[in-house]
Amino acid sequence: MNKKDFLPLKGTDYVEFYVGNAKQAAHYYQTAFGFQPLAYAGLETGLKDRTSYALRQGKITFVFTTALIPDSPIAEHQKLHGDGIKVIALWVDNARQAYKETIARGARSYMEPRVDIDGNGEVVMSGIYTYGETVHIFVERKNYFGPFLPGFKKWNPSYQPTDVGLKYVDHIVGNVNWGEMNNWINFYGSVMGFEQLISFDDKDISTEYTALMSKVMCNDNMRIKFPINEPAKGKKKSQIEEYIDFYRGPGAQHVAMATDDIIKTIEQLKSRGVEFLRVPEVYYETVMERVKEIDEDLETLKRLNILIDRDEEGYLLQLFTKPVQDRPTVFFEIIQRKGAKSFGKGNFKALFEAIELEQESRGTL
Ligand code: FE2
Repeated sequence: MNKKDFLPLKGTDYVEFYVGNAKQAAHYYQTAFGFQPLAYAGLETGLKDRTSYALRQGKITFVFTTALIPDSPIAEHQKLHGDGIKVIALWVDNARQAYKETIARGARSYMEPRVDIDGNGEVVMSGIYTYGETVHIFVERKNYFGPFLPGFKKWNPSYQPTDVGLKYVDHIVGNVNWGEMNNWINFYGSVMGFEQLISFDDKDISTEYTALMSKVMCNDNMRIKFPINEPAKGKKKSQIEEYIDFYRGPGAQHVAMATDDIIKTIEQLKSRGVEFLRVPEVYYETVMERVKEIDEDLETLKRLNILIDRDEEGYLLQLFTKPVQDRPTVFFEIIQRKGAKSFGKGNFKALFEAIELEQESRGTL
């Protein structure tokens, strides 16, 4: 299969969150997750309607944006969805071409190609809608030498906690409505030229109570991986349905961030107050039969509640945070891959049971 990739993507450029209070969000991601201050845009840089903070760790760039006025698409987004991911930006060589190719294949336009210029050069950006109100912005930055994007100034506060070893975005998962998963799989296939990686059926990932269906789409060079979930019928409410209820529609569910030393990273994150899902004790009683030999000490993994899974190519270590805002919507995954290219299918059941414990305590099971 050597057909030409019509949408070459170099990686995730940034992930932008629309939040109620960007100043406090930026502080939280510095303090708790070890992101480093990168750039700022707001009243001081001439903006009247919004403030944005850009933070970076490894190759991961997060932007936190809040509205300064009530009559604003940012304020509307925040009112409807709560804090959430608006933009999954993709790094390209040619943003005009990316727009043209995807629009020609049926994408809905979010932003026509636009050139932003400041003293550091120029960036070309264009954008299309994906599930819900989430968008992909194509960012062409080969002629830009500033800290982040035109209009942002370098942000260099005195408070700069150390990083925790997060390296890059491994994958970003979308939750879509009942019966819509295949439509979005087709969207990534036909509009963006992605291929399907692996698939779960609802039997794979259902517990006694809740279920979901999930398929994974991936671009040509494998740098962009988008699993798509839809709720499935269980005895009680699926965690995907809970997300959709509180987010008021489809949206990005979690961002998985890779580390090459998960033990160190998780110890850091826990000591800084990041809350993780607890897995049932029984998980560790049977895990070794499933994953066989691993390099790490099992007791350490157990103490830190790290999950382990194996596929044909190797194994992976992973852990999921609790939702990072009051609505039970967006959360993060920390992942270390040791050969495995899958997503922790064997952990889904254990994970589900852990999530159900949380749902039960919220009365939303
Ligand atoms: Fe994941």
